[in-house]
Amino acid sequence: MSYPYQINSFDDYKTAWAKSIEDPEGFWGEIAGHFLWRKKWDKVLDWNFKEPRIRWFAGGKLNITENCLDRHLEKLGSEPAIIWEPNNPEEHHRILTYKQLYFKVNQFANVLHNNGVKKGDRVCIYMGMIPELAIAVLACARVGAIHSVIFGGFSAQSIADRLQDAKAEFIITCDGAFRGAKDIPLKNVIDDALIACPFVKRTIVFTRTRTPVSMIKGRDVWWEDEIHKVETLGNPDFPAVEMDAEDTLFILYTSGSTGKPKGVVHTCGGYMVFTNYTFVNTFQYQPEEVHFCTADIGWITGHSYILYGPLGAGGTSLMFEGIPTWPDAGRFWDIVDKYRVNILYTAPTAIRSLMGFGLGPLQGKDLSSLRILGTVGEPINEEAWHWYDEHVGKRRCPIVDTWWQTETGGIMISNMAGITPSKATYATLPMPGVEPLLVDENGKEIEGDNVSGNLCIRSPWPGIIRTTYGDHERCRTNYFSAYPELYFTGDGALRDENGFYRITGRVDDVLNVSGHRIGTAEVENAINMHAGVVESAVVGYPHEIKGQGIYAYVIYSGTHGDEALIRQDITHTVSRIIGPIAKPDKIQFVTGLPKTRSGKIMRRILRKIAEGDTEHLGDISTLLDPDVVEQINRGRLSH
Ligand code: WT7
Repeated sequence: MSYPYQINSFDDYKTAWAKSIEDPEGFWGEIAGHFLWRKKWDKVLDWNFKEPRIRWFAGGKLNITENCLDRHLEKLGSEPAIIWEPNNPEEHHRILTYKQLYFKVNQFANVLHNNGVKKGDRVCIYMGMIPELAIAVLACARVGAIHSVIFGGFSAQSIADRLQDAKAEFIITCDGAFRGAKDIPLKNVIDDALIACPFVKRTIVFTRTRTPVSMIKGRDVWWEDEIHKVETLGNPDFPAVEMDAEDTLFILYTSGSTGKPKGVVHTCGGYMVFTNYTFVNTFQYQPEEVHFCTADIGWITGHSYILYGPLGAGGTSLMFEGIPTWPDAGRFWDIVDKYRVNILYTAPTAIRSLMGFGLGPLQGKDLSSLRILGTVGEPINEEAWHWYDEHVGKRRCPIVDTWWQTETGGIMISNMAGITPSKATYATLPMPGVEPLLVDENGKEIEGDNVSGNLCIRSPWPGIIRTTYGDHERCRTNYFSAYPELYFTGDGALRDENGFYRITGRVDDVLNVSGHRIGTAEVENAINMHAGVVESAVVGYPHEIKGQGIYAYVIYSGTHGDEALIRQDITHTVSRIIGPIAKPDKIQFVTGLPKTRSGKIMRRILRKIAEGDTEHLGDISTLLDPDVVEQINRGRLSH
């Protein structure tokens, strides 16, 4: 047993789970005792889901970076904390030991301090997957600033929305980012965003791609120059700022079924304990193992299982700048081979896309170091699961199918590798501390085996969302009002005769495209910005690689006649407003949309048509104009 709270048998799991539900305060209090606190908490848990008010370890004082860095220095100082593989395999990789990472985080914490960043300030980070991104995130945490990382694929408009929502006055970015054959001009995108954000005081720019950038006097400074200033002062350590367990650690924006993305707020103490606990137990991490999570730090998976989880556990985290298919589809296998990766954690989309290249790219790659495989982000289909098991894990690596969300902070339902049973396409059993249940539309609990319903959670776990930034009521209505006294996930699930859960997908108007979460309303708003568009409706449809594709029905009134050109312009508009990840895969022009007499679009019908299931449209008699369905059906775009 490597960690005092590591579960090592199925019986051990059952005991831990039962205790965690019976006595959550005793259970989590004991685990939290293994961390570094400046002052112990007053109370482990104080909560109600009505407001909601959720406080874990309140009164406890800590800094998460002392847990991720300082406390490891003595024993693990010379061990690798981060191994970084560049986009271009010809370029040198980098290894940062715990000592080096500690040094760099302290250095950059000084930079932040010198640039006026104080505890509680919001700092937006918009960078590629380079070690400086990890350094920037941890330095924010060290000075007590709230980081808001924005994925490099979001547009200037999306950044501006997020900056305004968080009132972020500081930005950390790069000249550009390398991704596959592309070179993305990040600073230019930031410049466009800042036209609408005059409140931004400082932008710190790291040099990665040598893309030309404009540097505005008084606002923009170079990362390297600022580091140099700290060096001339002799690189003093930056004493970690003392935080309350319930002080905000970060904001991460995510899409919902309505309106603009919301800023999910996570706090210091509970998030730290939960990411660490779930990391160590789900992956059954052993010291010195190399953990390779292929997510981007712009998403919660990267926050929790590239940074805070592994570093909290003193582990070695592999960070990859590039994409799975460049320079060829063997890139993941090269990386596994080169660094003797032990744990590979990726998304079903990546697996499906690599499957498409056949077995060639796997040939000659030594994958014998792999011990555990994981998936996250979307339901995995049987075919992809078996391919992963057979050709990557060679049938000797347990696969953990981890279900969780930006809002949950860490893994909620998953098997524990080699410890609890697994079943293809099932996330299986809840983590200790997590009590899932299924409810019907009226909120009545569905009990028994082989049933399906809406997935809810009965009581708080330490990593739960605390609020949506700047709008607590939105948090309440989104997650805590559909079913009183329960947290509603937005997912549907079924439960088999073993009590294993299988997550079947969203039951709200949220799409999951290549593991990226996108609201249909958000895409519709973007499409509607196009000058000739009168109205639109967006639904998801099954997509072989992406899981879901985006299907848009558009009423167009413009005079321009060329449909291909209009489609192209609508797509470009969405790319500009949200980002390339939200581009519709299909656009069908229609003359009307199926609406009820009260004017509500009947998405159920549109989904059926997009899926190609035109036989079972159900009752359309309540529609204002039933004929429109026939017209739409005739114009349907096949896949
Ligand atoms: C949504 C959350 C969790 C980090 C990445 C995505 C779907 C997530 C699984 C899984 C089936 C899954 C759910 C969830 N999802 N993991 N193992 N099996 N579906 O985070 O962007 O917040 O999205 O992803 O629909 O609600 P996110």
